[in-house]
Parts: sequence; structure tokens; C-alpha cells
Amino acid sequence: MAWIAKPSASTKIERRDEPYFTEAMQATMRDEYQPRFETNMACILPALHLIQHAYGWVPKQAMHEIATFLGVKPSDVFDTATFYEEYWLKPKGKVLISVCRSIACEFCGQPDITNAVKQRLNIEVGETTDDDKFTLVELECIGACGGAPAILMGETLHESITPEQVVEIIDQVEKDIDAGKFDHH
Ligand code: FES
Repeated sequence: MAWIAKPSASTKIERRDEPYFTEAMQATMRDEYQPRFETNMACILPALHLIQHAYGWVPKQAMHEIATFLGVKPSDVFDTATFYEEYWLKPKGKVLISVCRSIACEFCGQPDITNAVKQRLNIEVGETTDDDKFTLVELECIGACGGAPAILMGETLHESITPEQVVEIIDQVEKDIDAGKFDHH
């Protein structure tokens, strides 16, 4: 894998007036996490989780606010957030479609599943639909090889899926989104 240099020094941080790292989150950190961890550095992970759970991703302003709250360097928070693929550094759609691309799923038809999603939503892997409803990613093994090909639609696992079924599921989930049943998965 090639190393990618991060333009950290020249990165512009878009800011909004309202803080992302709310009073309630700070209270959660003080009451639940800081007593459990020996150092504030160790509290970076749960703080990032709180942000991602609330907003679906981790804005740079939020990383800065976490650093201020914990008394650590902003670069420590940034390095942690960029190290783990779990953290989203840009906004994603309301529902994340994760298609497993590892070997069992690939052998059992995963490329057709990915293509069906791409065509139905008119996006490429890694992109979000213009209406912010769906983001498509491919993941390595999601631990459901016995049911290959497998996908996660939000947090729901679908096994032994066909291209036709994945389109039907998207149709249904889109109706659910329009009915207000989904938010940041
Ligand atoms: S290879 Fe797809 S779930 Fe394991």
C-alpha cells in the first residue's frame, strides 16, 4: 500500500458556531469514560464514537473540540480518527450499504451485487447519492461467509442475496427513509 501524505498543516477547518461536542457528550465523558481510563489519550476513541454516533461522521471541528476537552493535541485526535476505517471523515448517506468483497462472497456473485447497487443508485463504490440517502462501500469479510454473498444494509445483515433482491431491499429501505425511519446508520 502506498503512503499518502496528509496536508495537515494547510488543511482548512470548516467551522459552525454550534459545537459538535455537546455539553451532554462532555458529561458522558466525565461520568462514564474518564473514570475508566487511566489517560485522556485513551478517551479519544469513545469521544470519536460519540461524535460519529450523533452525526454519522466526524468533522474536523469536532476533533478539535475533543482535543480541547481532553487536553491532548489536535493531531493526536486526527491521527486516531484517520487510523481506524470505522470513523467517517466525510458525511455519509442515511443508510450505509456495505457489500462484502472478500473471497467467499466474490466467488458467490459479489461483483453482480455491487453492480446492481451501483446501477440502482447511480453511484460508484465510495460515493453517496445526491439525495444523501445511501452510501455504498465494499468491505473485507464481514463474518458471514456461510451466507455468501452477504451485505449489510445499515446494520441489518442480508445473506445469500441476489442482484434482484438487493434492488428490492433498496426500494423498501428508500420507502422507510421517506417515512423517517432511518437516521445515520
Ligand atoms: S467472505 Fe464475505 S462474509 Fe466472509
